[in-house]
Amino acid sequence: MGDHVRSYVVAHLPGDGIGPEVTAVARDLVDRAGKRHGFSIDWRDCPLGAGYYLRTGQVLPDEVLQDLRKTDAIMLGAVGSPSVPPGVLERGLLLRLRFDLDLYVNLRPARQRPGVDTAGADDLDFVVVRENTEGLYAGAGGIVHRGTAFETATEESLNTRAGVERCVRYAAALAAKRTGKLTLVHKTNVLTNAGSLWMRVAQQVAAEQHVQLDYAHVDAACLYMVSDPGRFDVIVTDNLFGDIITDLAAALTGGLGLSASGNLNPDKTGPSMFEPVHGSAPDIVGTGKANPAGAVLSAALMLDHLGEPAAAVDLDSAVDAVLGAGGQPTTQAWAEALSAQLAHTEVTR
Ligand code: NAI
Ligand code: MG
Repeated sequence: MGDHVRSYVVAHLPGDGIGPEVTAVARDLVDRAGKRHGFSIDWRDCPLGAGYYLRTGQVLPDEVLQDLRKTDAIMLGAVGSPSVPPGVLERGLLLRLRFDLDLYVNLRPARQRPGVDTAGADDLDFVVVRENTEGLYAGAGGIVHRGTAFETATEESLNTRAGVERCVRYAAALAAKRTGKLTLVHKTNVLTNAGSLWMRVAQQVAAEQHVQLDYAHVDAACLYMVSDPGRFDVIVTDNLFGDIITDLAAALTGGLGLSASGNLNPDKTGPSMFEPVHGSAPDIVGTGKANPAGAVLSAALMLDHLGEPAAAVDLDSAVDAVLGAGGQPTTQAWAEALSAQLAHTEVTR
């Protein structure tokens, strides 16, 4: 087992605030899992984020993007700081990476984990497949007559047949590997144009891939996620709805600190990017209180995507074991408990 036969190039983009604190833990655990499972990671440090922007005036230089394109995956902490105006890093870095690397699926699994308050939603185990390059986040729209009483601001939701279809195809294939049930979440009764396209595509793809298709309006889906979450297995939805319902899913499964996500290029024509759902948490930076579980679970998604599912399971199970034992109060205590758990997995396997 000792030989490192497989090697992956991964950009480590720790970002701002607690990003460096939580991704340091994830990176160490990935290395440990690699030793056990016979692969190694060639980490490339990538210092983008608020600090970089304030130092250099640049958000994402083209040459850095070119370097990122050559990696197998990107592990991101979080970006954002009170000293950078809203939108600069979100649009200039996060959304640009999603668009330019064509990370068209945002994968956000949610399930109840041991020892976590389930807020009554006991039967919750689903994956949200959020379209990640279109919809209201595509950047179509603008402001005219700025500063006047008639100032007009528009955001247009872009939905292309190709963009919807590739996202739904990914979700249907995932559903086929799980329980065979796919739920489209939208608002087809009000957003009738985009809703019609999404519905027709979902019906066609579900029939082709032999998965059962259900539908829920987004508002009703929020209610069901609390009152009857067992009805969902794989949810496919557009960019904005996916952003919102996954925060609800996070709240129902132990909070932002435990939530993981992958921004996927499923065709693997470039790297995919993995990040905890939480932000840079400036209110707790440097206190040692940041929970690294979301970053570790995101790293598990990364390992799965890279083709190391056994190592991914080890990281995921280690988080469950630490949570089951009551969790930990500090980043450092989490790191120690997780690495002890990984070592224990090795001994008992
Ligand atoms: P946030 O997720 O950073 O924090 C929300 C609350 O949850 C805070 O009270 C924070 O202390 C707590 N929290 C978050 N992660 C935690 C963890 N791992 N352990 C313990 N507590 C945790 O969201 P907020 O405050 O709205 O945004 C802060 C900054 O992060 C902003 O600049 C925002 O733009 C950015 N942001 C970046 C994201 C990204 O890089 N993907 C995503 C969300 C926000
Ligand atoms: Mg969000």
